[in-house]
Amino acid sequence: MTEKSSLAAGTLGGASVRTQQSAARGLWSSRWVFFLAATGSAVGLGNIWKFPYITGENGGGAFVLVYLGCILTIGIPLLMAEVLIGRRGRQNPAGAVANLAREAGASLHWRTVGWLGGFTGFLILSFYVVVAGWALAYVPTTLSGSFTGADAAASAALFDALLTDPLRLVLYGSAVLAVTMLIVGLGVRDGLERALRFMMPGLFILLLGLVGYAAVAGDFARAVEFLFVPDFSALSAESMLLALGHAFFTLSLGCGAMMAYGSYLPKGVSIAKTSLLVALADTSVALLAGLAIFPLVFANGLEPGSGPGLIFVTLPIAFGQMPLGQLFGGLFFVMLVLAAVSSTISLSEPGIAWLNERFGISRAKAVLTTGAVLWLLSLASVFSFNHWADYQLFGRTFFDSMDYLTANWLMPLGGLGTVLFTGWVLKEKVVREAVGIVHPGWFRVWWNLLRFGTPVAIGLVFFSLIGVI
Ligand code: PHE
Repeated sequence: MTEKSSLAAGTLGGASVRTQQSAARGLWSSRWVFFLAATGSAVGLGNIWKFPYITGENGGGAFVLVYLGCILTIGIPLLMAEVLIGRRGRQNPAGAVANLAREAGASLHWRTVGWLGGFTGFLILSFYVVVAGWALAYVPTTLSGSFTGADAAASAALFDALLTDPLRLVLYGSAVLAVTMLIVGLGVRDGLERALRFMMPGLFILLLGLVGYAAVAGDFARAVEFLFVPDFSALSAESMLLALGHAFFTLSLGCGAMMAYGSYLPKGVSIAKTSLLVALADTSVALLAGLAIFPLVFANGLEPGSGPGLIFVTLPIAFGQMPLGQLFGGLFFVMLVLAAVSSTISLSEPGIAWLNERFGISRAKAVLTTGAVLWLLSLASVFSFNHWADYQLFGRTFFDSMDYLTANWLMPLGGLGTVLFTGWVLKEKVVREAVGIVHPGWFRVWWNLLRFGTPVAIGLVFFSLIGVI
């Protein structure tokens, strides 16, 4: 049913219309599958690539602590709000927000929050597939033993050779994009659900195997100390903002992904409990990724604060020097690809569902057109590392600009819209009923965090961006 027709029908009898609609759209077959899907969205390059390197750059334990605080007080409340909007609105993000706005007697302009989310997801996807492509390219590179005995210079040269080879970047990035679009094109049950059912367990098994390997072959104690013993002198105001921004990114917030997934969540499942579990799984994966990476980095006398190249330059040196490193290195990058693809499908779903539901375009057509536009846009990111390295947008390459624009501005903006809509536009009674927090005290904690804490925290991000603080 299109957004327009559901709006018209909605005025005739909201609840029953929504139930019919959901039957036609398809739902996850169980709470477990929703958990897999939402965790798949949350767990991605953010956990395995970004979290370890920003933790490394920001001094370890103290940063981890601030990050955990942000997840708990801002990330989880917002995650619950997004899932709630999706499930109650039972449409793509823009349609779901519109449905709820109508129900609350508020302006339909609120659906801009949903559009903005879909648009943000689209932009993120355009550079995310490029990094996922690096991971895919590293599977054969690592398995074939290219890193065996490599020193820092040789490893950096291999990464550089990839970045300056547009053809390879395009090939691997396109492969990731094609798989993503294929899965999304097949729909919620036949595509997303089927893929996630084997990808997610595969990812966890690989991760545990890699942590086991790091515990045996690496300097595990030093890594534990680095990650869990806080040294507050290493913490700056900037790193606190970084932790906050990363809490958004890692939980896939502010870009419609969790709303879209929430819209397929069966009735009767507690949004509060499931969201907590998703956040717990996401955080555990980030910490476990740290425990898979840092023991190897320390055991080989490498630099934990080496930045974005941590897993593509520094870590392969470690693999190249260790027994069975070739094999485990390859598996590490397989894991990274699985994590990335389970995120890319969630980044495309809001836009595809919107085209499908709003304009009645078939999934297949929506996927083909969106895929083509995305592919073109991703070329700009690919060329940021070679042909267009000297062209600047916002004083950065295209790739860096997309990252900066989405992570620092668009996601927090989408998050702000979502909390204002949930906390100030929707009726408290409706929200209380929908969210499933049984204990009244805990409901108040969540409700207040959502109405006051989250907007203030997001406001701080914006003020710091424009240089007021
Ligand atoms: N959460 C994903 C990660 O950590 C990234 C992502 C952002 C996915 C937004 C979906 C939506 O890599």
